[in-house]
Amino acid sequence: MKDKFYITTPIYYVNAAPHLGHAYTTIVADVLSRFHILQGDETFFLTGTDEHGDKIVAAAEKEGTPTKEYVDKISGLFRALWPKLKIGNNDFIRTTDPRHQQVVQAILNTVKERGDIYFSEYSGLYCFGCERFYTERELVDGKCPDHQVEPTLISEANYFFRMSRYQDWLIDHIRTHPDFIRPERYRNEVLAFLRDPLEDLCISRPKSRLSWGIPLPFDDQYVTYVWFDALINYVSALGYPKGARFETFWPVAQHLVAKDILKPHGIYWPCMLKAAGIEPYRHLNVHGYWNVNQGKMSKSLGNVVKPLELLDIYGLDAFRYFLIREMVFGLDSEFSEEALVARINADLVNDLGNLVSRSLTMVHNYFQGEMPAPGPSEVLDDELRESALQLVESYKASMEEVGLHRAMVLTWEFIGKINKYIVATEPWVLAKERSSRLATVLFHLVESIRIISILIWPVMPETAEKIQDLLGLGKKGRDVSLDDAGEWGIGKAVRPIAKAPHLFQRIEGQKEAGSRRSEVGAQRSADSAGEMQTSKSEQDMVSFKEFRRMDIRIGTVKGAEAIPGSKKLLRLTVDIGEQRTVVAGLAGVYAEQDLINKQVVVLANLEPVNFMGVESRGMLLAAEDGSGVHILMPDTESVPGSKVR
Ligand code: ME8
Repeated sequence: MKDKFYITTPIYYVNAAPHLGHAYTTIVADVLSRFHILQGDETFFLTGTDEHGDKIVAAAEKEGTPTKEYVDKISGLFRALWPKLKIGNNDFIRTTDPRHQQVVQAILNTVKERGDIYFSEYSGLYCFGCERFYTERELVDGKCPDHQVEPTLISEANYFFRMSRYQDWLIDHIRTHPDFIRPERYRNEVLAFLRDPLEDLCISRPKSRLSWGIPLPFDDQYVTYVWFDALINYVSALGYPKGARFETFWPVAQHLVAKDILKPHGIYWPCMLKAAGIEPYRHLNVHGYWNVNQGKMSKSLGNVVKPLELLDIYGLDAFRYFLIREMVFGLDSEFSEEALVARINADLVNDLGNLVSRSLTMVHNYFQGEMPAPGPSEVLDDELRESALQLVESYKASMEEVGLHRAMVLTWEFIGKINKYIVATEPWVLAKERSSRLATVLFHLVESIRIISILIWPVMPETAEKIQDLLGLGKKGRDVSLDDAGEWGIGKAVRPIAKAPHLFQRIEGQKEAGSRRSEVGAQRSADSAGEMQTSKSEQDMVSFKEFRRMDIRIGTVKGAEAIPGSKKLLRLTVDIGEQRTVVAGLAGVYAEQDLINKQVVVLANLEPVNFMGVESRGMLLAAEDGSGVHILMPDTESVPGSKVR
């Protein structure tokens, strides 16, 4: 029987447009949901918008728009963003939906009938930003810790939920279900809070003060407190109390939130469920904050990062990968474009992108794109296969525990192992020697890449599917199963293997974020035109001192590969006393295999230049006349690394 999986995000307030924090939680939910789809589980993924309460009314008033029109507009922004981030939610709930309002009223009636709602006079300190009363002890320097404003003293008669009645039950439930709230630090935080007596929760607002809410079914002079209303979305979207969806998915419910709303989810909600006679959810998964310049990113602080702007510049998969890889789930992370660029260049361009492009190019060049049939495997091959199979298991375990960053770390460790395997097996040497082992090595490379394509699909669906297309696999994306990743050798059936284009573009320059847009644009257009970028030519005389600064050396070519998508460029691996990648415009001039073991002259201290996503660390010297290009060579064999003077 299929397992079930139900994941929710918070329903976001519609008082401002979505920002990076909202994108992060929703992408995490999407990654988990896709992981379970790959496992073959029956999966339901819910997100939506929270549309009642003071601050929504205030935001609409500020804009001079009628409240309903305003909430429709902002809710529409969230709804429209998710497809752009490839979020595969199954439902989108709004607290203004009639289906939700009915369930809120039904639950209020049930809880009241059970004697857990009472009417009382109350006076307390209220934060409008949080939409809740604060106790003196919770304030920091007399201010709300989240909004840094002094709360307002409010006295009014209201309805209260007898939450205190459930304190002992909740403590016991958390103690006996160690992964009810995770990671552990947040479980401990909730338990610490529960050491003090739990106060009852004010769950109404008089209509005279706030009319934008769900009317209490038993008193039309009041509307429901926004949190009592909002939390119920997790069951109303499933068609509680009767729907088949509710029966299928509620027993496996998992919520995903940031630590700002730990208390309503870790305390109010389980008590509300208990009082309504509904089983508690299974897991509350809590993550930290994305900070900008050391401060929490939030709309009230006005330092938000807009997801769409980043997408336009860096591409969707790079953005999704960065968020998942960079934030250790549960801890805070600092957001910066510099960190994003560093991850793209290191993990995506250098590690993953180069692996795929060099491997598939070799299959293409040496076997005309046919998947090579492997011969007997050797120790290095067996080790690679073992690592792949172990990776699949540890990846699954990490995903189950919501250690998404860990799953990516493990995957990239494996990519590192494959790159080492290439260096150790030297397929270009095997090709030159026409060794039958070449097929076995390339088969192991392709199999490893096939497995990686499955494991990265939850995080980078576009890239994963692109790789699966390049490999010519019969199935891709959600039609592939995680079990396929655990089976070595399935890839035997695939063909033909396409020559790999660039999966990612290197982002040049670690400059200020503001200027990045034009730089990246310029880089992209130069790359896409397939042009080599030449540095400004110096026409002036060169002083002797300047000449001495040039580090020119003899090198021996160890590897040569075409750069996918370029007619002119070859990527050379040259031994100049150390291994260097040098890009040279020699395609069509020299056959790749003819360059191997040739000695060349290299300007070694030229600043690195990027050609079509490959970083060239040095320049090969060649002469050009009317008949073509001729590389310079020493007239007798010299030790690689010898200085040219
Ligand atoms: O709290 N870093 O809505 P909200 C990481 N409507 N995540 C962040 C973030 C940041 N800097 N800022 C926001 C509400 N988030 C209620 C929820 S649920 C029944 C009602 C994400 O629009 C994170 O998921 O203020 C956080 O919990 C949520 O947005 C708060 O969204």
